[in-house]
Amino acid sequence: MQWWNPEKPQLQEYHINLKKCGPMVLDALIKIKNEMDSKLMFRHSCWEGIYGSCAMNIDRCNGLTCLTKIESGTNTTITLLPHMFVIKDLVVDMTYFYNQYKSKEPWLKRKNPHVHGKEIIEQEG
Ligand code: FES
Repeated sequence: MQWWNPEKPQLQEYHINLKKCGPMVLDALIKIKNEMDSKLMFRHSCWEGIYGSCAMNIDRCNGLTCLTKIESGTNTTITLLPHMFVIKDLVVDMTYFYNQYKSKEPWLKRKNPHVHGKEIIEQEG
């Protein structure tokens, strides 16, 4: 396992016995944090591929660490998502993303405002 440290630019290498680790990249990151480097920072939440908080660049492909299997017998390189500002280790600053997300209007909008607590009936065209 390797990752980028923005304060001291270098890739850090860890060796993991995959027989004593879960099959996913996120399992390996948690194993590193628990057993080798408690200061390692990375995000994860649902472990289900839903929220995307564990997104990283894994062997030059962007993906979710909770859904990406580690290939046995090979080196896996984990780096930050590209084009994102670094906070620390594998944590990127999501401010720009959330500002862009907030600025977008939803595709489907109600003509009448929603009355809180009242059922919304679907209507055809
Ligand atoms: S932990 Fe939620 S998408 Fe990976």
